[in-house]
Amino acid sequence: MATDVIFFGAPGAGKGTQAQILSSQYGYRQMSTGDLLRENRERGTDLGNAAESYMQRGELVPDDLIVEMVKEHLPTAAGVIFDGFPRTIEQAKSLDALLEALGRGLPHAIYFYVPRSTLEERLLGRWTNPRTGRVYHERFNPPKHDRRDDDDGGPLIQREDDKPDIVHHRLDVFERQTMPLIKYYDETASGRYLKIDASQPILTVTGELLGALERRSSPWLKTS
Ligand code: AP5
Repeated sequence: MATDVIFFGAPGAGKGTQAQILSSQYGYRQMSTGDLLRENRERGTDLGNAAESYMQRGELVPDDLIVEMVKEHLPTAAGVIFDGFPRTIEQAKSLDALLEALGRGLPHAIYFYVPRSTLEERLLGRWTNPRTGRVYHERFNPPKHDRRDDDDGGPLIQREDDKPDIVHHRLDVFERQTMPLIKYYDETASGRYLKIDASQPILTVTGELLGALERRSSPWLKTS
């Protein structure tokens, strides 16, 4: 049976980049809580309005709102890459309970490790397609045409929360609220937890990820 997988790590660690590669080229399914929140904000939903001030400040959106949103959007079949969720112990426990209740088994967890100085450079140079969530970097992963998406040709934007002072705050929030997940998964997910060196070039990280997933067990990430 297919298994669900969590990608967690600091802002800018490359979770979205890798989840997009695995979903567009290898048929896996990506569920990004950041993208879902931004969509809700654009549509002016109650959730989007409630989340807006947290996101602008670089704070985490409250756990109950996030868990409800995940429940609502969770694909019915296993084999999902959770990109940026969970980010707190509370969210991790809720996800474990949700998946177990659905008979899907506990998720595998991959921690993307990148030093802080590298994270800052990545976030400050990021350009995003607001329509699809696809990300580029002006130096490490530039689009073919200046500030235009390779697929739909539309304009790329810089996210509001990628301004320097908010970036620094998001990294502090990660260290305070999300880093405890490293210990949580290390202790509770023996054999299901993996740390990767995500400071390497994009395709090297993809290769390591795929290699590790294959080695661990073939049902990892395979869509059913
Ligand atoms: P979200 O959108 O999830 O942002 P994030 O976690 O801060 O992560 P990022 O999207 O910034 O980074 P990433 O790891 O995906 O890196 P990327 O691949 O883009 O969340 C935004 C906000 O929503 C949060 O602040 C919070 O308010 C709220 N939120 C979301 N989920 C929540 C939750 N579960 N609970 C509570 N609140 C939540 O890469 C970054 C850049 O680096 C790109 O330019 C890319 O091209 C480049 N790059 C990527 N990999 C490499 C590489 N290997 N080498 C060189 N460059 C690279």
